[in-house]
Amino acid sequence: MAKITLNPLKSAGVINKNIYGHFSEHLGRCIYQGLFVGRDSAIPNVNGMRKDAVEALKRIHAPVLRWPGGCFADEYHWEDGVGPQEARKRMVNTNWGGVVEDNSFGTHEFLELCRQVGCEPYINANVGSGTVREMAEWVEYVNSDGDSSVVKKRWANGRKEAWGVKYWGVGNENWGCGGNMRPEYYADEFRRYQTYCRQYGKNKLVKIACGPNGSDYNWMEVMMERAGRYMDAISLHYYTVCGTWDHKSRATQFTKEEYYETLKKAAFMDELIARQDAIMTRYDPEHRVGLIVDEWGTWHEVEPGTNPGFLYQQNTMRDAMVAALTLNIFNGHCDRVVMANLAQTVNVLQSVILTEGDKVVLTPTYHVFDLYKEHMNARQIDCHVAAEETGTEKDHICQVTASASQKDGKTCVTAANLSCEKEAEVEICGLDAVEAAGRILTGKMDAYNDFESSPLAAADMRGVKVEGGKVVFTLPPCGVAAVTVK
Ligand code: AHR
Repeated sequence: MAKITLNPLKSAGVINKNIYGHFSEHLGRCIYQGLFVGRDSAIPNVNGMRKDAVEALKRIHAPVLRWPGGCFADEYHWEDGVGPQEARKRMVNTNWGGVVEDNSFGTHEFLELCRQVGCEPYINANVGSGTVREMAEWVEYVNSDGDSSVVKKRWANGRKEAWGVKYWGVGNENWGCGGNMRPEYYADEFRRYQTYCRQYGKNKLVKIACGPNGSDYNWMEVMMERAGRYMDAISLHYYTVCGTWDHKSRATQFTKEEYYETLKKAAFMDELIARQDAIMTRYDPEHRVGLIVDEWGTWHEVEPGTNPGFLYQQNTMRDAMVAALTLNIFNGHCDRVVMANLAQTVNVLQSVILTEGDKVVLTPTYHVFDLYKEHMNARQIDCHVAAEETGTEKDHICQVTASASQKDGKTCVTAANLSCEKEAEVEICGLDAVEAAGRILTGKMDAYNDFESSPLAAADMRGVKVEGGKVVFTLPPCGVAAVTVK
């Protein structure tokens, strides 16, 4: 029996809806084909944006979208992507497959996409190969209403009102593809760049510093010490890689051992955030600076026969369990984690959507986001799980993961059974429950949706009972549920 004990009197705060955010880079078929097909495409679109992808993102209430990268961000020059299409510069996307980028999707298109989805834009600017002036003018172009030459250019390009974009990333992975900088050097660069990111109107910018590569605790230490007071948030990147970077697990054909290794590595996110948070807290005990996990998710071998630079991978129940576990971890750390962005929305890494021509597939990971959406902007409540361990001798983890929140007089508990073999009898106590109902996503560990059939989706859950104020139910192997309790 797995026991989930809730304490509504104890809370880490409100779960920022942006924890359920996404990331879209000019990489493979994420932007082009996945989200943007152009106005002249036979694929149904509105102003060039695929209708099916936009509708799918709206259904999960996608709150924020990060763009244009990723590594691409530090080679991207925004002025190449504004103005008449035929005059836009063509460049080689050296990071991702060496394909020619025609810049047909630029600032106006990205902000139109966000408008259609109804989400906040998060723009990541170029520090690695850009200039302070370039970033300062991008902020001005997007946010100012004054009649400066930069703003007049925006008017000439068809947009009168400023967009008022809040979230600005100052470089990406500057410890790696963003310039191979040392933290001491980047800390100074961050201080300099952010100085010229001006406020226009009432729109308060959220200036996001490039944070560490996973467990590089020194990077966090140096950044907080030297630049903490100049930032509103700092990023953290952590990918779940089963195997090694040179020999990664296949996305759909994997063993039970690889399944548990993946889950064990995903579970590390909890310790990682706790340790990075502890460093941040020494410099920022008031929690003024947010932690933004703006790249996370599984990274498998690319699908056989696809361009290795396009990072296209299928998505199974294993990926769904990683999402369920990780989102529960983020909810539990909502006093520090203010945003997270799954990499990457469509056709790249752990996507929520896959496309092929005019066809679209919603992945099991998509359905986890659908199940968890009740947590957005809800008050997190303390949630303790006591359950047996599952896994192999090498990789074992707690069989059940859960998180809970309250909103509008209801409690939402999301719980997942991480075993791919055994059921879990679950009991939720601490609420004095009167009624409860649930929805569940489940399937074999390597089950997936494809363009021929999509058997995996959330469905109403049978057998959720209230007994003496407690809620009891059974989770099948690889089962993830959202239970609403009144
Ligand atoms: O998401 C793919 C890549 O992973 C991003 O471009 C980069 O920031 C990270 O290394």
